[in-house]
Amino acid sequence: MSTGIILAIAIPVIFVLGAVVASVSLRRRDVSGLGYLSRETRRRDEMAAASAGATPAEDDAGVFGVSSEARELERAVALERRPPPVAVDEPALPQDWAPPPAAEVGVTRRQFLNRSSVILMATGLGTFNAAMIAFLWPRPTGGFGSKVKIGTVDSVDEAIASGTPAENFSYFSEARSYIQPYPTDAATLANAEATYGGSVLEGMKLGYVALWQVCPHLGCKVPVCGSSQWFECPCHGSKYNRVGEKKSGPAPRGMDRFPVTIEDGNVFVDTGRVSQGPAIGTDTTGQGLEGPHCRA
Ligand code: FES
Repeated sequence: MSTGIILAIAIPVIFVLGAVVASVSLRRRDVSGLGYLSRETRRRDEMAAASAGATPAEDDAGVFGVSSEARELERAVALERRPPPVAVDEPALPQDWAPPPAAEVGVTRRQFLNRSSVILMATGLGTFNAAMIAFLWPRPTGGFGSKVKIGTVDSVDEAIASGTPAENFSYFSEARSYIQPYPTDAATLANAEATYGGSVLEGMKLGYVALWQVCPHLGCKVPVCGSSQWFECPCHGSKYNRVGEKKSGPAPRGMDRFPVTIEDGNVFVDTGRVSQGPAIGTDTTGQGLEGPHCRA
């Protein structure tokens, strides 16, 4: 066997033996309990005891040089060096879930959503019903927009004669209209029949014309002018004669008007049925300027 082969075998064996020796020497002697003695030590002690004529049981008498007090001391020191035991709590047993009391929780999410839905539906239905009732509720009668009774024939004639707001003019606020006398002579009525028609003409034949106070140009309220005996609009200067026929200005037509009827001695103005004023150039009464203008 060559030297190389011997070295190849010997070196690994030496390493293995060295590793075994190192692990044995580094091993803690107290891992397997207190007072542990290796097998060689115990055998040596037994041989020493046998040669001395004593049994291992007599060891406590100090035959081997280690007293029982020393062993107790060693045990107590080892016990002191031990880490304290870790307290482990007992695992709690699972418990059945029970919902918390309603007084603690208040309103749950489900309750909130349910109540919100009900409130929203009730509000929507209530609003819809209110709108339907308001739509179907009978409209008030007697005010502007309906057939308005302005008084008896005598009281209306008296108002015209007294000249309110000016001589030959009478204003009735409930109808927002001027109730003007219309000449009932044959020539004037013939002119009226050639221009007007329907319920407005019927009122003229009764001797009345109801002129809406709104200027047909841009909607200003048209006042009267006592000196000229015309209506004269302050906004842009349109002028109309006593029965609302346009004389001058930018207005596109004469003053708008309502039908007038007489029922049981009472005068009614139907403010729900407005008729457009006559065309420019209409002059059924022939009334000219009777004095200076109130507006330029
Ligand atoms: S609003 Fe009356 S003339 Fe323009």
